[in-house]
Amino acid sequence: MSTCTLSRRGAEAPASPIRALAGLARAAADRGLTVHGLNIGQPDIPTPKIMIEAYRAFHDEVLAYAPSDGFVDYRQALADWYPTRGGVRRAIDPDDIVVTTGGSEALLFAIAAVADPGDEVLVCEPYYTNYGGFSHMLGVEVAPVTLSASNGFQIDPDTIETAITGKTRALILPTPGNPTGTVLSASDLERIAQICVERDIFFICDEVYRDFVYDQEPGARAASLLDVEAADEHAIVIDSVSKRYSACGARIGWLITRNSELREAALRFGQTRLSPATVDQYAAQAALQVPESWFREVNAQYKSRRDTLVEGLRHIGLNVPTPEGAFYIAIPLPVEDSDAFCRWLLTDFEVDGETVCLAPLGGFYSTEGLGHNEVRMAYCLEEDVLQRCVRILERGLKAWPTR
Ligand SMILES: Cc1ncc(COP(=O)(O)O)c(C=O)c1O
Repeated sequence: MSTCTLSRRGAEAPASPIRALAGLARAAADRGLTVHGLNIGQPDIPTPKIMIEAYRAFHDEVLAYAPSDGFVDYRQALADWYPTRGGVRRAIDPDDIVVTTGGSEALLFAIAAVADPGDEVLVCEPYYTNYGGFSHMLGVEVAPVTLSASNGFQIDPDTIETAITGKTRALILPTPGNPTGTVLSASDLERIAQICVERDIFFICDEVYRDFVYDQEPGARAASLLDVEAADEHAIVIDSVSKRYSACGARIGWLITRNSELREAALRFGQTRLSPATVDQYAAQAALQVPESWFREVNAQYKSRRDTLVEGLRHIGLNVPTPEGAFYIAIPLPVEDSDAFCRWLLTDFEVDGETVCLAPLGGFYSTEGLGHNEVRMAYCLEEDVLQRCVRILERGLKAWPTR
């Protein structure tokens, strides 16, 4: 027998709670059930044709590496896009951008560049679980500030300030949030950035859902850390084509920082993994031509889905907050163990051949014992399907044996 053992890091790597139920969902589908996947943020909106065409138009004879920080033409096009159509007020230098393999790699590079093993990054829980996954890979601890469903998972800048300790190297915050849908106002974003500057920690602002805000005027986007000049030395913005263009498979993201040392560190990480994908960058560059009207239509569609889902959930007696952006809703359920409930929905329950796959929220918290009555739903499905999902959930809650 082999005496080779895994590293502790490898052996203890957390499994994604978002994908944890995938096997049960597959088994339910194999039994002939229709399983509505509300567990994963895979947009169903068709990817813009201009992007798909760009893939088809690739005819180079050699599929070569790209530069480690991305094609300069693409970085220039991104820098041009933000202040013109991306709703950012301040100019961006293409050299402040490092193109990565999805926003995921941008997060990995950002955390690796600012925190050493044993250091802490501050997050607001429930948080996007991969903040924990990447931190774990790097030996970095996650320190949580706990939000509450009772006030719509609002983020209080003062609470963040109080949670900063001598070990904190960075704050990681998404706006709009996953899994909460919380959108930071420009003034709260500025205040939080100011706190990070005063306490001399980095602010990794995850803006991959910035285009999806529902309670502002049409065409609005969530406030961006790129507009907070006073934080330039402390700010790292994470962005991606995945959600913006319904193009999760393109695996193109980037980080933006005006801190040249940070940018240099990210570039060196980029050199280690050689290059982001070549053809996907061409397609992502083509996507920058997608007109504003497309975003407005997509936003209107998600808003309508959000409203349908929130109304439906309230109608069945659930006390749910209204998410202000992204396409997730985190909700408390009248069950003690949402993980067991979500499994049961897949193994032992159906309504006329249909069931739902939800994401239990326990894994989105690092404080033991929290989130065990909560689930996340992604509203990336048509409205009539969402309505059916609410009915299935209602019946499931009534039939749940250990309720
Ligand atoms: C909050 C948040 N940040 C970053 C990502 C990473 O996305 P990608 O690597 O596809 O760009 C996701 C994906 O779901 C996300 O929800």
